[in-house]
Amino acid sequence: MKNFLVVVVAVVLVRWVDGSDWNVTELPSLSSTAVSRPLFVGLTLIPDAASKGAVCLDGSVPGYHLHRGFGSGANSWLVNLEGGGWCNNMRTCLYRKKTRRGSSYYMEKEIQFSGIMSDKPEENPDFYNWNRVKVRYCDGASFTGEGYDRDAGIFFRGQRIWSAAMEDLLSKGMQNADQTLLAGCSAGGLASIQHCDQFRAFFPESVKVKCLADAGMFLDAADVGGGRSLRSFFEGVMTLQGSAGNLPKTCTSSMDATSCFFPQNIVSNIQTPTYILNTAYDVWQIQQSLAPSSADPQGYWKECRFNYSSCNEDHVQFLQEFRKQMLDSVKGFSVSKQNGLFINSCFAHCQTERQDTWFANDSPLIGGKGIAKSVGDWYFDRSEEKLVDCPYPCDKTCHNLVFRSRK
Ligand SMILES: *[C@@H]1O[C@H](CO)[C@@H](O)[C@H](O)[C@H]1NC(C)=O
Ligand SMILES: *[C@@H]1O[C@H](CO)[C@@H](O)[C@H](O)[C@H]1NC(C)=O
Repeated sequence: MKNFLVVVVAVVLVRWVDGSDWNVTELPSLSSTAVSRPLFVGLTLIPDAASKGAVCLDGSVPGYHLHRGFGSGANSWLVNLEGGGWCNNMRTCLYRKKTRRGSSYYMEKEIQFSGIMSDKPEENPDFYNWNRVKVRYCDGASFTGEGYDRDAGIFFRGQRIWSAAMEDLLSKGMQNADQTLLAGCSAGGLASIQHCDQFRAFFPESVKVKCLADAGMFLDAADVGGGRSLRSFFEGVMTLQGSAGNLPKTCTSSMDATSCFFPQNIVSNIQTPTYILNTAYDVWQIQQSLAPSSADPQGYWKECRFNYSSCNEDHVQFLQEFRKQMLDSVKGFSVSKQNGLFINSCFAHCQTERQDTWFANDSPLIGGKGIAKSVGDWYFDRSEEKLVDCPYPCDKTCHNLVFRSRK
């Protein structure tokens, strides 16, 4: 009998402090058999952005992929912010500016839309006929930066890219929207939290506006060495990229910028209805924030960080503490009836754009309910959604990721 569905991923995992972002988007789409006619959507550049200084790290113009809605979805808009790590110092940003995460010259000319981006009702029951947009990520600070380094020739213009992309989409029909959803995964999920109320402000009161953050709950947690690896990293991003002025004022009025980059310090103050989807054992956070090799010189976490089956009782106990911190971080947030929550006890990262986790016969469930159904029920106010899974290893519906490092 098959218990957990395990997805083995072979990637080159370069130490993140060396600046290479984690290869999340290359995770294979598991249920390729379910995809009858894969949808590929072309890249649209935003030429006007240049005159507003809204440019990628290398100075190239930003872009997005837009697939038009139809029928009852013609005036509904889903704006999905791409993720892909951050750059926290000159070296890592210089590296990034020569990749698709820092330059539109290197972006794919078309990308596949699946899961919440799919145009097929059998793959995406509630949003398939909406206008669906994927905004490309090329600033390295979750669309929040503002700055320029003349010597290095690097632009930190994430916030301007955000504004330019929204203005362009408004002019292409989004100004007539009657319902909208801002989404994103990983660094894009964090961006959707950071920009949620800004997104709301683009629309009149009568328009329904909500936000969805997938795998964006990056916690300010102690790592296995007792340090704060992710906090140090975010400190670098904030200092280099000049994001402070673009983070929610409700937070920056009382806390430092680095703290305000962490979602746990802003989610309970978001005014716009928001849905947080995250695994309690987010594999990106395990590998890069909790047990990075820099915090584990003895290599005690060497196997477990890539493969949950190799974790012993001590490891699991540490991970259960992390789950508690995750649940604590959304306590205030989940008090509000308008917010939605889905914290499943799986080893994964990003579950909305993969068909197998979003909506398939064997997708992850909490209490019998899958992610697409829960997000739809929340968005359309069909029910209140506050789904929290029992702790590992109780959930047999997970699509767990196991990594094989080729170091
Ligand atoms: C990501 O994965 C792709 C395909 O597996 C590979 O070609 C690319 O070099 C990888 N990028 C990084 C930064 O590891
Ligand atoms: C994960 O760990 C288990 C238990 O140690 C092992 O049997 C399995 O082969 C590992 N998977 C990979 C992909 O390394």
